[in-house]
Amino acid sequence: MRTKRDFLDLADYSAAEILSLIERSAELKNGFPGPAGPKPLAGRVVGMIFEKPSTRTRVSFEVGIHQLGGQAIFLNAKDIQLGRGEPIKDTARVLSRYVDAIVIRTFGHHLLEEFAEWSTAPIVNGLSDLLHPCQILGDLLTVKEKGIDILNMKAAWIGDGNNVANSWITAANVLGFQLVLACPEGYDPGVPYDAVNIKLTRNPEEAIKDADVVSTDVWASMGQEDEADVRSKAFDGYRVDRRLMRLAKDKSYCLHCLPAHRGEEITDDVIEADYSLVWDQAENRLHVQKAVLEMLLKI
Ligand code: CP
Ligand code: NVA
Repeated sequence: MRTKRDFLDLADYSAAEILSLIERSAELKNGFPGPAGPKPLAGRVVGMIFEKPSTRTRVSFEVGIHQLGGQAIFLNAKDIQLGRGEPIKDTARVLSRYVDAIVIRTFGHHLLEEFAEWSTAPIVNGLSDLLHPCQILGDLLTVKEKGIDILNMKAAWIGDGNNVANSWITAANVLGFQLVLACPEGYDPGVPYDAVNIKLTRNPEEAIKDADVVSTDVWASMGQEDEADVRSKAFDGYRVDRRLMRLAKDKSYCLHCLPAHRGEEITDDVIEADYSLVWDQAENRLHVQKAVLEMLLKI
């Protein structure tokens, strides 16, 4: 079996490695090495197994793979035998004999881990119920581009302790920046946050105070649609609006991974404000994922 590395969780990477991925993403974004430059994915094929819908992750991976000279094969999980119960370990061993890397968007994080254990090709987490590492890598590039010192910033998270929040926690654990999360009771993060630089509060005003960056996400994630009514009551008071944003630093920014439910977790005027970085955030998914694939396929 050849040596390979996966990209399932930012916790598997050192601070130096994450910073270097961000640097490389910025280089790729700024046109280096250019369209005529080397194509690290030339002749390589990347499989993309998706069990959930996606706009940004799917399109940015497919476009990025093409730009690096490779080819993507999109596999709706329902259309392959995995969706009919073929074991994960069998699917992983078969697919990794065909393709050079596999991006997976799934529900249970265990599927990614089991897939990675059996696959000889690197596995990339394109979102699980637990984590969304590509998103946070893109978010870090986005705030760095605005001149924020990502090692010394204060980041705030308002809302559900979901997959995106969990990956913010992992990033704060590795990089050491200050992170304060405001989540209602019963919706706490799903990864350990016991660190001096990370705090959980029930009070959004406390979390956002003097923050450089404020992030939020939907109150009901994919797969939780049935809980939407209960959640919307539980999250009352956790909406990111102009009043709350005024408590952040004078020069602060707002992030949302998208898709957003305007009027629920975030107001329309905040998403459209000049301090909202949501479009840069969406674009940066493309650049960071190219850097991730380039790194994984160099090994
Ligand atoms: N932010 C994000 O992952 O978006 P998609 O669900 O559209 O991929
Ligand atoms: N927390 C959201 C993120 C979507 C990109 C979800 O899992 O649906």
